[in-house]
Amino acid sequence: MATDRLIFQPLQRIQENAHVKSFEEYKTLHTESVQEPSKFWGKIAKQFYWKKEPSAEKFLQYNFDVKEGSISIKWMEDGVTNVCYNMLDRNVKNGLGDKIAFYWEGNDPEDCGKITYKQLLEKVCKFSNVLKSLGVKKGDTVAIYMPMIIELTVAMLACARIGAVHSIVFGGFSSTSLAERLMDGNCHVVITADGVWRGTKLLNLKAIVDGALQICEKTNHKIEKCVVVRHLSPDMEKIVADEAGDSSNNSDDDPIAKRPCRTLELKWRKGRDVWWHELMKNAAPTCEPEWLEAETPLFMLYTSGSTGKPKGVLHTQAGYMLYAATTFKYVFDYHAEDIYWCTADVGWITGHSYVCYGPLANGATSIIFEGVPLYPDPGRFWAIVEKYQVSKFYTAPTAIRTLMKYGDDYVKKYDTTSLKVLGTVGEPINPEAWLWYYNVIGNGQAAISDTFWQTETGGHVLTPLPGAIPLKPGSATFPFFGIMPELLTEDGQIITEANVEGYLVFKQPWPGIMRTVFGNHERFETTYFKKFPGYYCTGDGAKRDEDGYIWVTGRIDDMLNVSGHLLSTAEIESSLIEHPNIAEAAVVARPHDVKGECSYCFVTLCEGAEFNEELTKELIKLVRQKIGPFAQPEFIQEAPGLPKTRSGKIMRRVLRKIAVNDRNLGDVSTMADESVVETLFSLRPKGA
Ligand code: WT7
Repeated sequence: MATDRLIFQPLQRIQENAHVKSFEEYKTLHTESVQEPSKFWGKIAKQFYWKKEPSAEKFLQYNFDVKEGSISIKWMEDGVTNVCYNMLDRNVKNGLGDKIAFYWEGNDPEDCGKITYKQLLEKVCKFSNVLKSLGVKKGDTVAIYMPMIIELTVAMLACARIGAVHSIVFGGFSSTSLAERLMDGNCHVVITADGVWRGTKLLNLKAIVDGALQICEKTNHKIEKCVVVRHLSPDMEKIVADEAGDSSNNSDDDPIAKRPCRTLELKWRKGRDVWWHELMKNAAPTCEPEWLEAETPLFMLYTSGSTGKPKGVLHTQAGYMLYAATTFKYVFDYHAEDIYWCTADVGWITGHSYVCYGPLANGATSIIFEGVPLYPDPGRFWAIVEKYQVSKFYTAPTAIRTLMKYGDDYVKKYDTTSLKVLGTVGEPINPEAWLWYYNVIGNGQAAISDTFWQTETGGHVLTPLPGAIPLKPGSATFPFFGIMPELLTEDGQIITEANVEGYLVFKQPWPGIMRTVFGNHERFETTYFKKFPGYYCTGDGAKRDEDGYIWVTGRIDDMLNVSGHLLSTAEIESSLIEHPNIAEAAVVARPHDVKGECSYCFVTLCEGAEFNEELTKELIKLVRQKIGPFAQPEFIQEAPGLPKTRSGKIMRRVLRKIAVNDRNLGDVSTMADESVVETLFSLRPKGA
């Protein structure tokens, strides 16, 4: 039977205790949530602590239509609250003080730790006082570039407590990318760690930050303070003075070493660089939260933009909190006794909403994992599931596909029967991976939540609910509460027929939607609202089947999704053309059986330059330096000419065909010079 016909009914053992027990119940709640959003979310808002409750009149005010004026979204505008207070103090007051907030599982299976809600609150208060002592005030932006350690959540929550806006940059980004984000976000304080092990690799995070700070310095952007967590053992470190900021240690070279341990060289700039533990030593253990109006910024997080320059997606206090909390509760069908584990890095939105804010808002116990799926062997995930008796687990299709390749034995070695809900996020999941997840990891006894969402949406927007919605492998099923999806044709007509692909858009705001692009509201409007007035446009394509299930088919703009990381082709192209021998570059997405997609790059050389292995290596290195190792191109081929329309537009559609060696090019009547196509086919690299 074709996999798109498979249906899995909710499992009885899940349904019995579920928050939502049937499709009808889901429908009723969903209808209320979209018809009377203020009433629906108003009830949920009551579960939180407010210094001043939001009024019914001002619960939701918005303009979603560019034709009516500027886009604006305001939830609970006159409410006054503090997100950190709701994550910690509220839970401690409700008797959860001694409950574990986080288990920490290190890269090395011997390394672990834990922290209760009460302990976390104290650490956060201390660090809040530290931030204040460094001069950080309400509204200031603070950059965080850290590994997956408990201090990362302490830093985030401390920002939230004092009303500073955190801007977390994923620890895999290069110095150049970090510098770009520090400057764009106007950050003057950055928090990092000395280094981190990822599998057998040792990363010198501080050196990457140093490289970024040097770039900032050259641009006259001053970083006042760099707070460094000592995460490695002191005897692994060699500290050297960095007085003049000389550039000998420009860490654009991958600061990665192999085991066995060697000493990390840490450059130390007096006055700017400060150890976390020294600042914490004398910090006071209590700190009154800053009471903030609901629409005050909470954090920004950069995501790739199709023009190449990353966008600082801005989320605000109360709406984001309500949405992260509510999606967490319903999508993972959270119950007090659960042990929850999301494998995402906090450097991505999944980690913001479902490692930090969503679980804490619910008083949950969860796991922070520092390591990687294959270290020390491909059984690591399941060893952790067994060790902590994880009941709710959340990961990405690329991880599932990677582990699937190593076979079932690594899973069978461990007891995974504690699992009840298995989440997936980041890209469409292929039915084979879905079925392996369901049958092998879940033993056919756990529900799968294929959650579609984006950095911009703040939380899940299309997703099953474990006790209520029959599953179809590969479909993110139905909208979450508050979400009104439509599928539109290129010219904005609503598609009503089944199985016709269109643009996936949403009709009215939900509490977790982004409010603006940091420092560039016009770009926010252009990117998400101009193409289809009245709708938020996701940039993804989707279709609805005859049962109303939504199937997301992937990006329709010039973005590619590599292992769940969104990259823009323009961003890779602009890195490539920085090479002196490259005149022009065009990058397209090509399917990849583990990563989902990978990049396939066409490069046109400058007069006299030669295409060879050396150049390929240099180009790969360049992209790693400019963006980060995870953006490394998979294929690079020479392109003496690119297929272009007569008006000079690169025909990416044709390049995508060449990348997969498919000669069914479709209509090429608008191509200026058809002869380039044959040349490109003949120059495809070996193994591609
Ligand atoms: C893009 C957003 C949201 C956290 C991770 C990525 C793709 C995400 C799914 C899914 C199909 C998905 C979309 C989306 N995507 N989840 N379950 N099924 N596609 O966040 O970096 O903002 O990327 O990821 O293309 O637009 P992001």
